[in-house]
Amino acid sequence: MAIWSNKFHDAMSNQAYNFNQSIHIDDRLLDADLRGSMAHAEMLGRQQIILQEEAEDLLQELRKMRKEYAEGQLAIDYDEEDIHSFIEAELTRRLGSTGKKIHTGRSRNDQVATALKIYCMDEIDILSEKLSDAILAFCDKANHHLETIMPGYTHLQRAQPITYAHYLMAYVEMLFRDYDRLQDVKKRISAGMPLGAGALATSTFPLDRDFTAFSLGFTDYADNSLDAVSDRDYSIELLSALSIMSMHLSRYAEETIIWTSQEFNFISLKDTFSTGSSIMPQKKNADIHELMRGKTGRVFGDLMAVLTIMKGIPLAYNKDIQEEKERLFDGIDTMKAMISLIPAMLAETVVNEDVMYAAAGQGFINATDCADYLAAKGVPFRDAYQQTGDIIQYCIENDETLESLSVAEYKQFNRQFEEDIYDAIDLKNCTFRRNVPGGPAPERVKDHIKAVTSYFGLDLSQQ
Ligand code: ARG
Repeated sequence: MAIWSNKFHDAMSNQAYNFNQSIHIDDRLLDADLRGSMAHAEMLGRQQIILQEEAEDLLQELRKMRKEYAEGQLAIDYDEEDIHSFIEAELTRRLGSTGKKIHTGRSRNDQVATALKIYCMDEIDILSEKLSDAILAFCDKANHHLETIMPGYTHLQRAQPITYAHYLMAYVEMLFRDYDRLQDVKKRISAGMPLGAGALATSTFPLDRDFTAFSLGFTDYADNSLDAVSDRDYSIELLSALSIMSMHLSRYAEETIIWTSQEFNFISLKDTFSTGSSIMPQKKNADIHELMRGKTGRVFGDLMAVLTIMKGIPLAYNKDIQEEKERLFDGIDTMKAMISLIPAMLAETVVNEDVMYAAAGQGFINATDCADYLAAKGVPFRDAYQQTGDIIQYCIENDETLESLSVAEYKQFNRQFEEDIYDAIDLKNCTFRRNVPGGPAPERVKDHIKAVTSYFGLDLSQQ
């Protein structure tokens, strides 16, 4: 029987009841709701809305339920409509009429919104922890490849040489922004504690919303009760942040998949992170990376679903909002699984440094450096660019490279070429001399690694 059953409302049909039920989805909010209920009970006692002894009995029982739940001892009754109804029913089973007092000055609408916000803040902390582990894993790998030369690409065409460390640190930047976004979402969640909003219009009881807000770790309560119960922006914001994060991981996965192909062979995956084929004995597939890429679509879908659920809801609460939770939980779970994989995934990735270096040696990747050499001698860059283009054309026609041309041949294109051109176009030199802040020069990348790792309280040079 639902907690709201009364004389005026006949029993629901089983079919409708089952369709309406959400306890199988929202059971994970149990601990968050118990905390919300404890703050509410304590406030009711302090405000003398219920007797102090009653508040204490409620608090004690709620605390007991939290402990039992943590120890796997709390049997949830899955016949209840949702986890919030279960908590009231269970309190009533245990405390009789005192249990029935927990819902004084409260509605499931503000109760759900509060539990969900508490849950999101907890999950953001867990996600942030996992994300910082992933960021540090990228930094650690980068630290081992400060001088590993590889081709950098634009349009997937070889463009200019970079280092593998510089490449990895690009992902650190993306993930660091993701980290920041999560903190930002949490900041906004914590500024709007919903409890006290009631069903939609607060209460006639003298509720102390400051007390409940601060004791639950919020920085403030929500200022409008209609919005408080029907706002799910935080769910959309969190799913947006997770969608962006998963998009980053998907790009990394995609590149690794391409690079493990025989066509590139920049990277090999250890057997621990690859699969075989049931028919082709020679195959080693990057299934885990492919799934990472695939699950990204799922997180995007979760975001789209919640946006769509919310887009036509008149104020304030409507039951459609119940649907939002399943997608939010799926997005969080999927993202946690994805981000947790990163440290091991990076550790199990073997970098084929020779192949990367050889690839960087092809495709006239140092052509810009040849043009820059002339530009540094005062030749206008556009002229230097044209002359270098002519040199490359000459190399292609004569089966030469920028390294194999003689100075005499160089001089046919510009008299200012001297012996030091070889130094200027040397792969290592032209990578390491890109010493502008943000560039691939090892000392720059090292500084970047240091800045990020010390932000998270780690010193890689000690390892
Ligand atoms: N299970 C519901 C939900 O998650 C609880 C709120 C029910 N409120 C109501 N007015 N029917 O949205």
